[in-house]
Amino acid sequence: MRSLLRVTQNVLRASERAYTNAANPDRKVAILGAAGGIGQPLSLLMKMNPYVSDLALYDIQGTPGVAADISHINSKAKTKGYAGAEQLGEALKGADVVIIPAGVPRKPGMTRDDLFKTNAGIVKDLITAVAQHAPTAILNIISNPVNSTVPIAAEVLKAAGVYDPRRLFGVTTLDVVRARTFYAEKKGLPVADVEVPVVGGHAGVTILPFFSQATPFQDLAQEELVALTKRTQDGGTEVVQAKAGKGSATLSMAYAGALFADACLRGLNGESDVEEYTFVESNIVPELTFFSSKVKLGPNGIEKVMGLGELTEFEEAGLKDAIPELKASIAKGVEFAHSN
Ligand code: NAD
Ligand code: LMR
Repeated sequence: MRSLLRVTQNVLRASERAYTNAANPDRKVAILGAAGGIGQPLSLLMKMNPYVSDLALYDIQGTPGVAADISHINSKAKTKGYAGAEQLGEALKGADVVIIPAGVPRKPGMTRDDLFKTNAGIVKDLITAVAQHAPTAILNIISNPVNSTVPIAAEVLKAAGVYDPRRLFGVTTLDVVRARTFYAEKKGLPVADVEVPVVGGHAGVTILPFFSQATPFQDLAQEELVALTKRTQDGGTEVVQAKAGKGSATLSMAYAGALFADACLRGLNGESDVEEYTFVESNIVPELTFFSSKVKLGPNGIEKVMGLGELTEFEEAGLKDAIPELKASIAKGVEFAHSN
């Protein structure tokens, strides 16, 4: 607990330092779905982010209360709540980064694809508004199924004539956060020093942790490798089951979403060497149009999509299994965007 306190104090001190640093440009962040399980803690974390000067909290309900509450925190970001479709345009106007955790979460027994029926339409409508009111914003899509909602967003932006693939991201950071945690736990490593690449997509077998490229590298017995891979792929389901009908990961997702948005802001601000794993338009796997891999972020979004490195036989087999599901999920999103 004492160490948690120390971490919090350090974050706040860093936040104060950056707050008084005039070199940080003003940045508006809009969160769509801000009153939800992810939205609320994510809004709190973005209010504490020193790079944010304006924070727009939008939802179909509940945002006046969330915004009033968060706005009392003595950090830099001016916070305002927006509720209902008629206020969406105002929430988006001038946004540099738009984060979208709007939509329904899983219950036990459901796959992420089972959420498509409800969330595809929500994402389509929100992106239609983004195309009109914040066409150059960096977009962070959290709403599931990410493997389909990101292609939907791309098609909506294309139809509006404002698609820039460098600015559209599916947030897969939670898979990386989990892989780091599980690997560090298993091998007794200090978790803060651990890096694990996670590529592919954000659902079941499409989540591909590459433990052969983990640092610090530790040999894994085959059973350990299989178990760690499976736990990373099933991390979301582990939380859905533990919450027993009360939703899916919210707090760890808010943390992961805040990490990813922070990276986007640092990229926008011209910081060098900002790299994250994320689901983006990509030709890294020839059969697929979208894929999650490490990208370098800069002032215009993606500067470079990195390669996958050398894969082991186990990882090659995982990739081969992931491709058909990814292909189908991407096609489903594209088709939905054109037919609805
Ligand atoms: P939640 O039900 O607690 O919150 C969702 C919020 O979205 C609610 O406040 C709701 O009012 C709002 N909403 C619904 N329709 C909206 C619309 N048209 N415009 C704006 N807001 C709208 O759900 P949650 O736990 O916060 O999860 C949200 C989504 O994030 C789910 O689809 C979930 O599967 C997904 N998720 C993704 C990841 C990831 O790694 N990418 C991780 C966890 C959860
Ligand atoms: C997660 O990975 O936690 C999210 O995608 C939510 C879910 O449904 O598992």
